[in-house]
Amino acid sequence: MKNRKSRIIGEVRELSKGFSRRTIPADYMDRSESREAYGAYYGEVGRAKGEALGEEVLIRASPALFRKERVRILDLGSGTGEFARALARTLLASSEILVDLHMVDRSEKALARIIPGEKETGLSLSSSKALLPFERPFLAEGWDIVSMANCLAENESAQEGFCELFCQAVDVLSPEGLILLVEPADKRSSRSLLALGDRLLERNPGLVLLAPCPGGRKTPCPALSDPDNWCHEDRPAGFSGELLRTAEALGHVKDALKMTYLLFSKGASPQRPSLRLVSPLHREKGLFWGDFCDGRDWAKVRLLTRNKGDLTRDFPRLRRGESIAPPAAWPLGKPALFDWPKDLAVVRLAHPDGRPFDRGTREPS
Ligand SMILES: C[S@@+](CC[C@H](N)C(=O)[O-])C[C@H]1O[C@@H](n2cnc3c(N)ncnc32)[C@H](O)[C@@H]1O
Repeated sequence: MKNRKSRIIGEVRELSKGFSRRTIPADYMDRSESREAYGAYYGEVGRAKGEALGEEVLIRASPALFRKERVRILDLGSGTGEFARALARTLLASSEILVDLHMVDRSEKALARIIPGEKETGLSLSSSKALLPFERPFLAEGWDIVSMANCLAENESAQEGFCELFCQAVDVLSPEGLILLVEPADKRSSRSLLALGDRLLERNPGLVLLAPCPGGRKTPCPALSDPDNWCHEDRPAGFSGELLRTAEALGHVKDALKMTYLLFSKGASPQRPSLRLVSPLHREKGLFWGDFCDGRDWAKVRLLTRNKGDLTRDFPRLRRGESIAPPAAWPLGKPALFDWPKDLAVVRLAHPDGRPFDRGTREPS
């Protein structure tokens, strides 16, 4: 047992180095030791992301998606399958649909680990081996959801090919269909996904960006106009004791679900205009401040402590990813700094995943 644990820690250490330095060997999922370590550590995180984003799909997708008898999901770069299966299971658990999930990976051995797997009611699994982005026979068919998690970072030199692939995916997507792209939260991975998102919006005028950006933006992502910016999620999450012990041994901090994601739709309505907090809410002497974005403009908004009152008391409680009603003075000129006045109510509209705040209840002071 002890040997297995220390072997997994050693393997995860190597995987982690390879992912962050972009030196991961192309066959890591073919080696049983690294495949087992990936499943044991990253698999649990992938499962948590699949569940969280599945819940978000239930909130944000067109209701027509869940009136279908069968929802067909295509997942690219599935690895050991935890992300895709958690996404599928979450949809299955909350609606009357049946789910067909097709998983694609360059590693036949990774796919063999999940297929046939144990049988689950309502979920039918299939897979195919393919080297992305060029081998795409699966795109001859129509899909309701096309997802890809943590695969772009391993294919930085093939951005253009992935852009082509997702343009083709848009063409074969059902009218109520979704494209869900997820990458790690670090600056390099995040910016590369945001840049791919901009290309997809530019090339597919009918595509709606449902999340995370408010207002269904079509314009270039404001984070990309500053080379130091990027946009990512940091949502509360609980992990198993085993994962936390492995993380501690590696010096990793696993206290939240961190990721960059983009959710596109062909048929759902975009989020209404709002301001999303895209940084932590900082507290400094005499003020609270954060970076906010409405999908077009990115600016600092601050509340001076002396302006904290009944109408503004929710400002210091805001968490990354939450959205609030924008002030009439938005968008701002340059420098993009807005001082929230004492007499303007801070109205929390939605949690990071789109769940609305209950307007009837306010947290006690
Ligand atoms: C980091 S894992 C992600 C697995 C899963 N999507 C998740 O989020 O947990 C990346 C997976 O993508 C696969 N992959 C990477 N590049 C690929 C490519 N060019 N074609 C097909 N599969 C690829 C790898 O084999 C690996 O299984």
